[in-house]
Amino acid sequence: MVTKILHIDKYKADPGALEEAGRILRGGGLVAFPTETVYGLGGNALDPEAARKIYAAKGRPSDNPLIVHISQVSELTPLVKEIPAMAEPLIRKWWPGPMTLIFKKSGAVPDETTGGLDTVAVRMPSHPVAAALIKASGIPIAAPSANLSGRPSPTSARHVIEDMDGRIDMIIDGGECEIGLESTIIDVTGAEPELLRPGFITIEDIRALTGGGKIDPAVTAPGGDGLRPRAPGMKYRHYAPKAPLAIVEGEPEAAAEEINRLCSEAASRGQKAGVICSGAMAARIKCPLVAELGEDESPESAAPRLFAALRKMDEEGADLIYAQAYRDKGVGLAVMNRLRKAAGYNIIKVHSPLG
Ligand code: TXA
Ligand code: MG
Repeated sequence: MVTKILHIDKYKADPGALEEAGRILRGGGLVAFPTETVYGLGGNALDPEAARKIYAAKGRPSDNPLIVHISQVSELTPLVKEIPAMAEPLIRKWWPGPMTLIFKKSGAVPDETTGGLDTVAVRMPSHPVAAALIKASGIPIAAPSANLSGRPSPTSARHVIEDMDGRIDMIIDGGECEIGLESTIIDVTGAEPELLRPGFITIEDIRALTGGGKIDPAVTAPGGDGLRPRAPGMKYRHYAPKAPLAIVEGEPEAAAEEINRLCSEAASRGQKAGVICSGAMAARIKCPLVAELGEDESPESAAPRLFAALRKMDEEGADLIYAQAYRDKGVGLAVMNRLRKAAGYNIIKVHSPLG
């Protein structure tokens, strides 16, 4: 299959420019498109055959449910059984935006889209190209991240081309994704909102808005990805670069020292080590291969660069990768959730002389 590449200026996106892409989607084809979080691999959410094509293109097991993307709140009603009261303030505050909500599904959503679950994940993206594409197609769009299963999510069209060229009908290049981590997923079918996947919208934000909110224990613990269904073992290592990755946890100066020691050990064995860390820490790192996650130590500046950094390690042929740890607060919870999964929960703890 020849994949058509369409360049769209984010600031000039209108449904007219996306008419052909909309036609492809209505006809059962697949179109990758930018969102504010990561690139999505879109297909008609109401067409079981399109869902099957998505799973095939990603090489993804078909029991892993897809997120349905809409462009207006009114498009939610036909997809769900009910809109629980707790969802209302969340929708008012964060749609359009990087938040996915889990509802009980209506009969309109095929089992193929939800991986056989009786719930459906819905999101209204704020990216102008995504919004214009959904409008141009006139249908809800099922879209997982547009990477091959197991690889880091794509935050630029180049990443999508790497993974999907020749496998889908069209890739829309709308530049870099601003947030760079997948949407925050909140289950609103229970007694209080439950965070299933951390993202740019944090548990602190959810609690401040709703006065409630628990975290699925699998968000920080090994052995699951925080999301149902939990296919045992299979989802253990996600977002994975080709080389083994270890997270080095500890006070920055001591962590940098340990990373330098590990890198020179690797070099003496003839192995190429790579380091993923903040610009602040990079100043202390002696390894020649470094991917910087922004200037300062904040997880906000790390988030949009993390997946590109993991891909860079593959491109540069790293044999071993060491990554700096961030604190599990705010957006740090999402950054560490992705890093831990990429590392297969391989964590080196460093104790500074002061403890
Ligand atoms: O930011 C995003 O959410 C991106 C962009 C493209 O919108 N999409 C994305 O999709 O990250 P994907 O398929 O890579 O991740 C969706 C996650 C999966 O881990 C899936 O298990 C979970 O959402 N999910 C989908 N439907 C669900 C449901 N009904 N219940 C629980 N988890 C669900
Ligand atoms: Mg994904």
